[in-house]
Amino acid sequence: MSPFDELEQVRADALDALTACTTLPALAAWEKQYLGRKGQLTRLTRAVGTLPKEERPTFGKRANAIKQELTAAHEARLAQVKQEALSKDLAQGAVDVTLPGRPVALGHLHLTTQTLRQLYAIFAQMGFEVYEAPDVELEAYNFDLLNIPAYHPARDMWDTFWVRDEPHSEARRLLRTHTSPGQIRAMRERAPQPLRVILPGKVYRYEQITTRSEHQFYQVEGLAVGRTITMTDLIGTMHQFAELFYGAGRKIRVRSSYFPFTEPSIEIDTDCILCGGKGCSVCKYTGWLEIAGAGMVHPVVLQNGGYDPAEWSGFAFGLGVERPAMMKYGVKDIRYFYGNDLRFLRQF
Ligand code: DAH
Repeated sequence: MSPFDELEQVRADALDALTACTTLPALAAWEKQYLGRKGQLTRLTRAVGTLPKEERPTFGKRANAIKQELTAAHEARLAQVKQEALSKDLAQGAVDVTLPGRPVALGHLHLTTQTLRQLYAIFAQMGFEVYEAPDVELEAYNFDLLNIPAYHPARDMWDTFWVRDEPHSEARRLLRTHTSPGQIRAMRERAPQPLRVILPGKVYRYEQITTRSEHQFYQVEGLAVGRTITMTDLIGTMHQFAELFYGAGRKIRVRSSYFPFTEPSIEIDTDCILCGGKGCSVCKYTGWLEIAGAGMVHPVVLQNGGYDPAEWSGFAFGLGVERPAMMKYGVKDIRYFYGNDLRFLRQF
């Protein structure tokens, strides 16, 4: 038989055999026998090399056409056999279509996201809009424009991860160490209009990971700029926040502090949510928990943002997100927030 005749023979045999296939295993065996890597058609196609040169294209073309025809026929037969099997199962009651479906496993929001949303809602009530700034930040925004020049000792406090692609560039980039650089971005976009924003987001530090500190965590920064803003506005805002987040009747305490981008700078504590100020292990027997760093926006920073400090003033604050959640829900180890352990996450 010539290879051409053989080809036609294989085609005819295959089509005959296919109609005889009535089960899935039979169909799989058929596929292997005719179309498989070592199947009859493949073997024949390889014989193309033994033909005279001028016959090869015709042979190849025909072999391909048959391969396509057989593949299509196999698919059609497969669908048919499956359909028949299903109808048979249904007729015999093997598939109980009245069984209830499997429940869809619904996820829920991460504790960090829940906390962020609580903070958005609280500050929205006080007229703050959410303003998003980038995680990968210019050195100038993270430091210089916030009144932290290269030689400033405060830089040690905020060592971080640098982007390595431009070592000699003027515009060096880093993973922001705090959400404060967003202050400059918001001011530059809005000046000279009054503004009230919160800047939520992740921040990064080159930090030893312990039960109390991670190298990545969230902050929510607040910034209000206007013509008549004073320290009492800041303290009132913080008191309102403490009551809405930690519960009615919370007291706050203001301590003086230092930040390069505020003057004067303060730190704000709330009476311990666990012992109410009596002293316990959560507040380390002081009766107080630190909740925010804050202050009046430094004139240099206002100026860098495009506001004339002779006419404008503002306050700013920086809140943690994981720490407040830890206090509120009694979480002992910050590493749980990034551990992806469902036994932890499902509790909230
Ligand atoms: N950026 C500070 C930090 O990461 C927190 C902070 C303190 C933000 C005082 C402020 C502020 O806006 O006024 O430690």
